[in-house]
Amino acid sequence: MDVQRLFKIIELRAAFEPLFFYTPTMNFHTRKWVKPEDLNPNETLFGGRMLAWIDEEAVIYAIVQLENKHVVTKYISEIDFISAPRQGDIVELGIEATAFGRTSITMRCEVRNKLTREPILKIDKLVFVNLDADGKALPHGKTEITYVKDRLD
Ligand SMILES: CC(C)(COP(=O)(O)OP(=O)(O)OC[C@H]1O[C@@H](n2cnc3c(N)ncnc32)[C@H](O)[C@@H]1OP(=O)(O)O)[C@@H](O)C(=O)NCCC(=O)NCCS
Repeated sequence: MDVQRLFKIIELRAAFEPLFFYTPTMNFHTRKWVKPEDLNPNETLFGGRMLAWIDEEAVIYAIVQLENKHVVTKYISEIDFISAPRQGDIVELGIEATAFGRTSITMRCEVRNKLTREPILKIDKLVFVNLDADGKALPHGKTEITYVKDRLD
């Protein structure tokens, strides 16, 4: 192989490096212990309970990212219930922002078993809207995910 060709390959490899080393930024902050009061009559986790946990996790994520406590759920896409947790299981909830609009933030969600990493649920799109004091959509001015250290600087 001639040297020019080798350099071209190295150059291309460098250009695509970010793709090779892409790591998802989803963090699984919240863990829940499935208790008797969380179960449905089939003795698995009641879906409505899991959705309430997710809604709360997502709104907290949105409040922190948008730095405004007046945020509401606007839209939730299809919910894929992949497997059913049982009493005593520990589940963990992951949220990741996928887009920042003018007044909205879009996130995705995954729930998995803490110990086995078995996937439990996936939601591709949750949209939350930033509000003013009158409950009207308010531009938030955010464009990317920020972390505690960025916000405290
Ligand atoms: C949230 C609310 C104030 C938005 O009012 P609105 O008149 O629809 O406002 P807008 O049309 O300006 O839309 C606001 C944002 O939502 C987005 N949006 C609106 N409808 C959407 C939909 N069906 N899917 C995804 N995003 C949507 C818009 O694109 C816009 O985002 P952007 O500014 O980032 O582009 C109003 O719909 C509302 O009060 N809904 C009830 C919320 C609620 O009670 N949630 C449950 C309890 S938390």
